[in-house]
Amino acid sequence: MKIIITGGAGFIGTHVVKLFVKKYPQYQIYNLDALTYAGNLENLKDIEHLPNYQFIKADITDEKHIQQIFDEIQPNAVIHLAAESHVDRSIMNPNQFVLTNVLGTIHLLNAAKKMKDFKVFYHISTDEVYGSLGETGYFTEKTPYDPRSPYSASKASSDHFVRSYFHTYHLPVKISNCSNNYGPYQFPEKLIPLCINNILNEKPLPIYGKGENVRDWLYVEDHARAIDTIFHHGKIGETYNIGGNSEKKNIEVVQTLCRIMNKKMNKPNGYYEKLITFVKDRAGHDLRYAIDFTKLKTELNWQPSVSFEEGIEKTIDWYLNNSEWLKNVTSGNYQKYYEEQYSKR
Ligand code: NAD
Ligand code: DAU
Repeated sequence: MKIIITGGAGFIGTHVVKLFVKKYPQYQIYNLDALTYAGNLENLKDIEHLPNYQFIKADITDEKHIQQIFDEIQPNAVIHLAAESHVDRSIMNPNQFVLTNVLGTIHLLNAAKKMKDFKVFYHISTDEVYGSLGETGYFTEKTPYDPRSPYSASKASSDHFVRSYFHTYHLPVKISNCSNNYGPYQFPEKLIPLCINNILNEKPLPIYGKGENVRDWLYVEDHARAIDTIFHHGKIGETYNIGGNSEKKNIEVVQTLCRIMNKKMNKPNGYYEKLITFVKDRAGHDLRYAIDFTKLKTELNWQPSVSFEEGIEKTIDWYLNNSEWLKNVTSGNYQKYYEEQYSKR
């Protein structure tokens, strides 16, 4: 089987590519990625020599190039992760999110539609398409879409296009919508790696609003396992929610990071907590996300295997042991982005 995995040099894609390349030596894995600020081939150093792995630098907004690649490879499957993924960037520049997340997805669908022995187009999406919950309730696969940021609107649109290709052209598709991931290789623009990086540099830990917003956290390797399960056993035309069973307020997450880091860096209790700084809220900030993943659990026997307490320890240890990685990704344009984001808050 020949599988194109898009966005394989990004955070989640790195874990998915590694899992598939190592677990399925009989598959040929093509990692198709444009290497934007979020993509990093360093992540894949330990598997790049394996015979069933190949990297292809390509931009999914370039329809001609995408078609050429598909014509050449004749893939049997696509796992589509490539996207602009950060909500704050979507607030600054919505257009790029439409180009990559909507148009890019359509280009891949068009190319897949022309393949002869094509088994599945698996689209990786987010729980943010369902909007924002109040203090109770959960998102199920039947929750109506209600995206509220340019990022989630672009992902919702791409989900609709994927479903439309199933109904209109009978393209075999699957979709999953997952909650917040955390773990190794996450770019330090997202809450957890940003705060770890700032703690290491003793810089303020910016909490939007009052820190009361709730996210459901899933360790990234559990997401990669869910993707493996759905890819192989999920039903064509179906959607599966993926969640971590681990709802936390943002302030709790950051306090947990501080507590663990105080211990690891031999600082007194309360030391890094002094860096916590409440800043202007994110525009249109969704209050709460919580996922009901009963369908995935009962039909495909998947559930998270790493608790938040265990996962956050592993994550911190990874960043402490990979300070060069963190240094590399925070050089160049990162400072400019960081200053633009936080000088206004
Ligand atoms: P990421 O930003 O870390 O990585 C995105 C990858 O896509 C990068 O390697 C980047 O180079 C590549 N890419 C971006 N634009 C491209 C283009 N035009 N052509 C080709 N490649 C391009 O993202 P992530 O956090 O790993 O998320 C991966 C997918 O999972 C996204 O579709 C995202 O919406 C979805 N998702 C993420 C989370 C999360 O918590 N991070 C949760 C649920 C779903
Ligand atoms: O729910 C899934 C989504 O989770 C994915 O689809 C997105 O790709 C991913 O980025 C993530 O979106 P969030 O907006 O929830 O993640 P982020 O890490 O940006 O923010 C998590 C929470 O922390 C959110 O309530 C905003 C808040 N926050 C974030 C940053 C970067 C802060 O308080 N301070 C910060 O500096």
